[in-house]
Amino acid sequence: MEKIKFALLGYGGIAKSHKFGYELLEKEGFPIELVAVCDIDEGQFSAAEEAINLGATYGTDLSGINLYTSLDDMLEKEDIDVVDICLPSYLHKDYAIKLMRAGKHVQSEKPMSLSYGDCQEMLKVSEECNKKLTIGQCLHFEAGYTYLKKCVDENTFGKLLNLNLERLSELPSWKCFEGWYLDINRSGSTPFDLHIHDIDIANYILGMPRSVSAVVIDNEVPMQYISSRLFYDNGVKVFATASWNESKGTPFVMSYRARFENATLVYRGGSVSVYPMNAPGFEAEETLKENRKDRMAEEIRNTALSVGDPNFTNTANTPECAAGSILLIEKLIQSAKADGEMIYL
Ligand SMILES: NC(=O)c1ccc[n+]([C@@H]2O[C@H](COP(=O)([O-])OP(=O)(O)OC[C@H]3O[C@@H](n4cnc5c(N)ncnc54)[C@H](O)[C@@H]3O)[C@@H](O)[C@H]2O)c1
Repeated sequence: MEKIKFALLGYGGIAKSHKFGYELLEKEGFPIELVAVCDIDEGQFSAAEEAINLGATYGTDLSGINLYTSLDDMLEKEDIDVVDICLPSYLHKDYAIKLMRAGKHVQSEKPMSLSYGDCQEMLKVSEECNKKLTIGQCLHFEAGYTYLKKCVDENTFGKLLNLNLERLSELPSWKCFEGWYLDINRSGSTPFDLHIHDIDIANYILGMPRSVSAVVIDNEVPMQYISSRLFYDNGVKVFATASWNESKGTPFVMSYRARFENATLVYRGGSVSVYPMNAPGFEAEETLKENRKDRMAEEIRNTALSVGDPNFTNTANTPECAAGSILLIEKLIQSAKADGEMIYL
């Protein structure tokens, strides 16, 4: 495969985690290069500290990378194959469309956009322009969730009976662009920002459910807490909760429990413990810290292969799956507005 040239658009909190992924892949000798970074706030090029809340303390060594404060300027001067959009969520659609029309492949951060209609437009432009579009649903590359998918696909512990997914946080009060996280019109609040990860995991592993229902709690911001139920034709039930409603200082929780016929899987702190019905419990080897791969690096690798390797088929991170997950979020909000009424898809 020829070297694929990437540029980052937006260099705030999450972009610094992407930068780390590029560094890992370049060190490994994988044929990619991060050639340019663009952010309208040039202070972001040296602001590593501000990303600490998102677990990223790196990203300030930008030597050898061309820096821009204007996208048009970057597009004019650089020879780029893929633009990796790390902008606030309300900007994803317009920039993805602009870039694909400008002849670039696009990898965009989650959520794909803030409405299913937007997602359909993005898919249409991707097809019209013959440009790849991948969405940063990074849990598709996180060991705990790939292990769960493998157990479902391979029937390792029998049939899945129910899956409980959790993502709990205090209100995002860390520095971000113009306070966009707390503006429901720009972030979509908890459903589009946080819950999307777990709803998308259910969609990725199990497909679209038959019906859904949800309730929300409004507090400092609307829909600061959401609790959802997804019902599948084969009897599987998914229960998912996302919260920005925890008191300040409460540690972030990202976890799941999956009850199969013959075992329960517990994911917490990055690794998976397996509790078989009639045997001693054990830790799933591939989810142990020393065996886990960096999810951002794997997400970028998947995009690069989609763009550069004609023999590669992207099954891990399709925009159609990401769009379906946005549709599910819309249905859950519809249900919540009707006091948890069951919505059939
Ligand atoms: N995959 C994950 O787990 C994960 C985690 C956190 C955030 N995210 C997503 O990443 C995206 C960005 O979040 P963040 O926390 O990095 O936000 P942020 O506010 O920290 O960073 C956004 C950056 O975009 C820049 N920007 C704004 N408008 C611009 C424009 N027109 N042109 C160029 N630069 C512009 C801002 O200056 C800022 O540096 C969001 O969509 C969010 O949902 C994903």
